[in-house]
Amino acid sequence: MTPSPSMLIDIIAGARPNFIKIAPILAALRAAIERGAPWRTRLVHTGQHYDRAMSSSFFDQLGIPAPDLNLEVGSGTQAEQTAAIMIRYEQALLQERSDLCIVVGDVTSTMACTIVARKLGVEVAHVEGGIRSGDWTMPEEINRVVTDSIANWFFTTSATANANLRAAGVSDDRIVFVGNTMIDTLRRHLHELRPPEFWGTLGLAPKKYLVLTLHRPANVDGEGKLLAHLRAIAEGAGPVPVVFPVHPRTAKGLQALGGAIPGLHYVEPLGYLEFNYLVQHALGVITDSGGVTEEATVLGVPCLTLRDTTERPETVTIGTNELIGTDPGKVGPALARLRAGQWKTGGIPEKWDGEAARRIVAFLERKLR
Ligand code: UD1
Ligand code: UDP
Repeated sequence: MTPSPSMLIDIIAGARPNFIKIAPILAALRAAIERGAPWRTRLVHTGQHYDRAMSSSFFDQLGIPAPDLNLEVGSGTQAEQTAAIMIRYEQALLQERSDLCIVVGDVTSTMACTIVARKLGVEVAHVEGGIRSGDWTMPEEINRVVTDSIANWFFTTSATANANLRAAGVSDDRIVFVGNTMIDTLRRHLHELRPPEFWGTLGLAPKKYLVLTLHRPANVDGEGKLLAHLRAIAEGAGPVPVVFPVHPRTAKGLQALGGAIPGLHYVEPLGYLEFNYLVQHALGVITDSGGVTEEATVLGVPCLTLRDTTERPETVTIGTNELIGTDPGKVGPALARLRAGQWKTGGIPEKWDGEAARRIVAFLERKLR
């Protein structure tokens, strides 16, 4: 990286989990600038997610400043979205070229902006680089592999990610094991978590309900699979209420299903503080999210993942997560174990201590001197 008197650092965010990951990085960059680092930041929101509940709610709750640039790409097919982000981010870089582009996670915005930046000779640092599910049916796996094949620097969450990068030929000096910025955010806001409005009206009480999130295309696109999952979950939960904040992708599938399933309480996507309050006090979480498995691990809450693979193996080997698979028939027995109090207890993965963003910025301060 070539230092300049006012180096411009782009930070890219497009989808819900991105906002949670960038919050502590932006805060740490701001602190470094206040200490005298000769940097400016440009927060680029691609517009991949745009509903208030999927986007601005996180800016408000997590104290993220308004984006400097919103590319407003909206929804579309994989190619439409990738193309729109690439075209608009390229225009932004041609207007003002940045010196470093920081991307997080594995969404389409991550990959699209990485390609654009590298083709214009801008160095890219990938936060959460190196994780792999081995499942090529997931768009995220392609995003990860493409991003990591051309990024310059990798800020990693686990020893497994480091090993994956080394196996792909990345030299050690480009890999920085920093920990997990999503967990930085969780630790920073733990004392502010608060019950959602419906806590009282649904009669929820600690350890007496389950939380459900589903949004992977493999689970929710196509009514048959979604219905089979929901029926199995409602049946396996028995009298335990299931709170289900519905992702907009899943909402489309639910519309086609018609009537509600008894025992499942559909709610809008929740704010960060309310969602993690629910997770913290839940008997367990049923999910296909990546980030939620990490949060459940740190909060010590049993987590059933409706996937066959994970790019976050430490949530299973160290944490409270278990891969139940995508066969709805597996849900009942797993929920029976959970309700009988037979779930494993977990530990906390290495460096998931709330300091990841500070490690990232400390590295940049050394590198960009
Ligand atoms: C995306 C990411 C996924 C991530 C998830 C987090 C990719 C390939 N997928 O999946 O890795 O786990 O975000 O939530 O990048 N929609 C709205 N309002 C919004 C956003 C989306 O209604 O604010 C609807 C649209 O109908 C859209 C659909 O949700 O077509 C899917 O959105 P999209 O961003 O394409 O993928 P996600 O499933 O959200
Ligand atoms: N989340 C939230 N409200 C919700 C559901 C999830 O704030 O109703 C947060 C959750 O705490 C986690 C993140 O969204 O930090 C996970 O995002 P998502 O599951 O959409 O994406 P993934 O992690 O699977 O990429």
